[in-house]
Amino acid sequence: MRAKVKQLKVEIKEVKKVKNDIFLLNFQSSYVARAAQPGNFLHLKLKSTILRRPLSIHRIKNNLIYMLFKVRGRGTRVLAKKKKNDQLDVIGPLGNGFKVKNGENSILVAGGIGVAPLLFLAQKLVKSPTFNVKRPTSKNIILMGARDRKEIVCEKEFKNLGFQVNISTEDGSKGEKGFVTDLLKKRLRTLDLGLRTNVYVCGPKDMFYQISKIVKNYENVNTQLSFEQFMGCGVGVCCACVIPAKAGYKKVCQDGPVFALEKIY
Ligand SMILES: Cc1cc2nc3c(=O)[nH]c(=O)nc-3n(C[C@H](O)[C@H](O)[C@H](O)COP(=O)(O)OP(=O)(O)OC[C@H]3O[C@@H](n4cnc5c(N)ncnc54)[C@H](O)[C@@H]3O)c2cc1C
Ligand code: FES
Repeated sequence: MRAKVKQLKVEIKEVKKVKNDIFLLNFQSSYVARAAQPGNFLHLKLKSTILRRPLSIHRIKNNLIYMLFKVRGRGTRVLAKKKKNDQLDVIGPLGNGFKVKNGENSILVAGGIGVAPLLFLAQKLVKSPTFNVKRPTSKNIILMGARDRKEIVCEKEFKNLGFQVNISTEDGSKGEKGFVTDLLKKRLRTLDLGLRTNVYVCGPKDMFYQISKIVKNYENVNTQLSFEQFMGCGVGVCCACVIPAKAGYKKVCQDGPVFALEKIY
């Protein structure tokens, strides 16, 4: 069931630069900590832009809500300059979120800053009752791909949760040279696919089509995609966020941002 959406005025506790143009911000909210599911997002009001900006919930710890974001334009630039004790107007938690499934293999796939919602998902997966009731051959893996090493973040955090981390960069500056989809192809070939496998993906849309071509070769693989679409209202009114799905157009803010792959491709 979806949590009740609230508009909250929160006080920022910390904003810090993680790497280059990637920042981590946190604020305290016991309501969001209780209500949020992995894949949910928050819609932020920033004085510099008329429309709110959507950001995923990256991590929750002791009622602190973390958001990891890359500076892209006016909104995120202003957010990166926020300071401790600044106020933030937040609507959320919004969207459907990932269905946390108890597959024996869990593969998270992050394209660039698409890693943001996957840490919260990993936290939830680790806590799910059957996560540790594993077959000896089952695996928990995150595949992270980016243009170069400066965009690879959160390696340590996933390792601390017990995930194997595989990295690819397009320029070869870290991990394997190539795309994260190449890593997925390889990992699926080497996994024990007699076990149910859940693939959870977040990143640029171009990557999703490639992933659909890869996973359709496997029967026992279930894939969910989280879309980072441009948004207007964030609550299903304006249709700014629609994407074509098999059953007609879907609103990413309301029907998503997470969709089962077979509903789209
Ligand atoms: C559900 C959801 C969750 C998201 N979670 C995160 C997150 O956790 N961390 C994060 O860094 N980003 C996330 N995004 C993307 C984020 O919302 C945009 O980067 C942000 O709105 C850009 O605002 P801006 O004012 O800085 O840039 P703008 O001035 O609006 O745009 C600057 C440039 O960035 C590009 N751009 C803007 N928005 C997007 C987008 N949605 N996708 C691709 N390119 C875009 C535009 O082409 C433009 O050239 C998420 C998006 C959605 C829909
Ligand atoms: S952003 Fe307005 S309907 Fe989705």
